[in-house]
Amino acid sequence: MTILECKALTKEYYSGENVIKAVDHADLSFEQGAFTAITGPSGSGKSTLLHVLSSLENPTSGEVIYNGESLKKYNDNQLSILRRRRFGFVFQAYNLVQELTGYENILLPVMLDHRKPDEAYLQKLTGVLGIEDRLSHLPSGMSGGQQQRIAIARALANKPAILFADEPTGNLDGKSGREVLALLKYVSAEFGVTLILVTHDLGVAEQADRILTLADGQIVRDTKGAAQ
Ligand SMILES: Nc1ncnc2c1ncn2[C@@H]1O[C@H](COP(=O)(O)OP(=O)(O)O)[C@@H](O)[C@H]1O
Ligand SMILES: [Mg+2]
Repeated sequence: MTILECKALTKEYYSGENVIKAVDHADLSFEQGAFTAITGPSGSGKSTLLHVLSSLENPTSGEVIYNGESLKKYNDNQLSILRRRRFGFVFQAYNLVQELTGYENILLPVMLDHRKPDEAYLQKLTGVLGIEDRLSHLPSGMSGGQQQRIAIARALANKPAILFADEPTGNLDGKSGREVLALLKYVSAEFGVTLILVTHDLGVAEQADRILTLADGQIVRDTKGAAQ
């Protein structure tokens, strides 16, 4: 089943007189539960594609279709509810609230949505991620890999349909980067979450079901990864 699609999706930026086509007429569809890596050189439009697909940014033209519904009809409030409830985000920077414990950070999206935490689910999630013993600690008392695992739990706290990740291992050393990637893959599969992950690292991209390669805002390759 297709969960996310885009048609002629385009994002332009203006710098002085120049137009930069950061994403240039992307036509894509993403299967529910699949792991797609988006790769390409620096400046090729990977982050911009992730941002327009996930409605963090409005496209210049074209459309995104989530679960069969065009997001063109959605106003800003509806888009922010969609992002909060159906999408999870992990970035290179962990973006944890320094004053809150690991568990409080994980609970934030649930609280923001005025919902009751599903304790059993969160327990399972933090167990799989191996962070049960970090939950009462502040981020300053955690390694980078532990902070990113807290950020992954936070991104999954609302049981999203799609997890968008932009260079999630970019700040980590090789070993903890590999651990975090393996966990991202594992939890996505375990909880049936569609994973769309940006990376400039081919070793990371190869672990996906599918690899999209960008150059100058265009999709120049769409191939199967090693997971297939
Ligand atoms: N907010 C912005 N304003 C102007 N140009 C931007 C902005 N964001 C990205 N760009 C430009 O769009 C292109 C794609 O950038 P980006 O999506 O960040 O690439 P990547 O993530 O592959 O490194 C680059 O030329 C970049 O300079
Ligand atoms: Mg980027």
